[in-house]
Amino acid sequence: MKPAPDWIRQGRQARGLSQAALARLTGLPQRRLSHWERGLRLPDPADVAAIRAVFDRLDAETAAGLPGRRKARWRLLHGGAGGAPPRGRIEAAAVDAFVRGIDPVFSHRRALALAPTGGLRALSLFSGCGGLSAGFAWAGFDLVGHVEIEAAARVVHQANLPGCPVLGADIGALADDALAALGTVDVVFGGPPCQGFSLTGKRRVEDPRNLLWREFLRVVGIARPAVFVMENVRLMASMRTPAGGLVIDEMTAAFAALGYRLTMGNLNAMDFGVPQSRQRWFVIGSRAGEPGLPTGIPGPPRTLRDAIGDLAPLDSGEADARDPLHFAVRHPPHVIAMLRDVPEGASAHQHPDPALRPRSGYNTTYKRLVLDAPASTVSTSFGMISGSRNVHPRATRSLTIREAARCQSFPDDFRFFGTLGQVRAMIGNAVPPLLALAVARHVEGLVPRVRLERTTYRLQGGCSTS
Ligand SMILES: C[S@@+](CC[C@H](N)C(=O)[O-])C[C@H]1O[C@@H](n2cnc3c(N)ncnc32)[C@H](O)[C@@H]1O
Repeated sequence: MKPAPDWIRQGRQARGLSQAALARLTGLPQRRLSHWERGLRLPDPADVAAIRAVFDRLDAETAAGLPGRRKARWRLLHGGAGGAPPRGRIEAAAVDAFVRGIDPVFSHRRALALAPTGGLRALSLFSGCGGLSAGFAWAGFDLVGHVEIEAAARVVHQANLPGCPVLGADIGALADDALAALGTVDVVFGGPPCQGFSLTGKRRVEDPRNLLWREFLRVVGIARPAVFVMENVRLMASMRTPAGGLVIDEMTAAFAALGYRLTMGNLNAMDFGVPQSRQRWFVIGSRAGEPGLPTGIPGPPRTLRDAIGDLAPLDSGEADARDPLHFAVRHPPHVIAMLRDVPEGASAHQHPDPALRPRSGYNTTYKRLVLDAPASTVSTSFGMISGSRNVHPRATRSLTIREAARCQSFPDDFRFFGTLGQVRAMIGNAVPPLLALAVARHVEGLVPRVRLERTTYRLQGGCSTS
């Protein structure tokens, strides 16, 4: 019998875990852990990977200063391995099948494995859990760092994009020197918070969050990327400054002063393989002429059925034991009575029996989605049955976290951690990774033009644009 693999016991004890806790977190039977620790058996490589993944995650949580593991408030949602690790590289043709959603095995790890290496260098701001970052990583960008104020979101970003270090929490506290020390940054991307601009928020012109784009501007001024990508809600286009001007006019002038030409416009995620109608406002800036926007993928949009059709059917209060993210909120009987007979695409406000209609609210609330159409925009409140278009097309309940993540094109092996509220917020705030991938590929095509321009300048003996 070989000696005990002491690293399991030592690693577990160093992280303050009982054997039972490690069994729970890894999903491995405690009896087997005990056998391995006592040297009676050896773990196979998949078990080793599962244990290491838990250790890595706990270390990332500790590094990010999250609340202690023992605090009941902190709920570990999903630590599952999510499919076999990629074996070698997969031929390029598979990438497009994957992107177009033809490939049913939709895997974050596979996308990372498929990504070309040695790519351009990108910096992620207002990173959230990493929807936008994931798309850039899948396109082959090297992520030089990310900045995100929410500790829980940083943990998720780190767990899924481990090569991308945390540069800081509050972007306002990020020192100019730290940014300058990053070296060449080809692309800066990020989505400043949109609550001040959005209809679901109060849409106040003096909301301090509306000024965070200026922090984005500061970073661009220091990092001097060839291209930047800023994402926000559609309504940003019409938002006014306290002085009465349009925010986007102020933005255009400020970035022009740094030498950037801008293209701005709406992109709908459903045009890029995402099974959801989700309009987002993109501002792309380039130092080498008109950047333009990516064009959509031809073909019919993917539907809610494409996204969630294979998931276990659940009623209110039920859970899928195989997937910790696929559980249905338990709704009160009077709400279920209001919605039970409401057909797909309709709202309880349209119930033939007035007694079963909600007392107040819009027709978009208590509303069922349509299975054979793209999902409606997933917001942070997708778990609330009373929210806007959050009701499953057939079952009388709100969407599960897994369903919302699928609608956002997060592969099942993209891991989420945190409280239920935190995870729902991360998912609802994210740029769908498939949309991000299309943006990243578009942007990639813009960068060499600037590099060429740099070379030209040098040949002419002029000053570099970098
Ligand atoms: C719209 S979300 C970004 C989502 C992200 N693009 C994605 O695809 O997952 C905006 C993020 O900015 C973060 N944030 C807000 N204020 C910040 C600040 N002062 N510094 C850094 N991050 C901030 C929020 O916590 C939130 O996660």
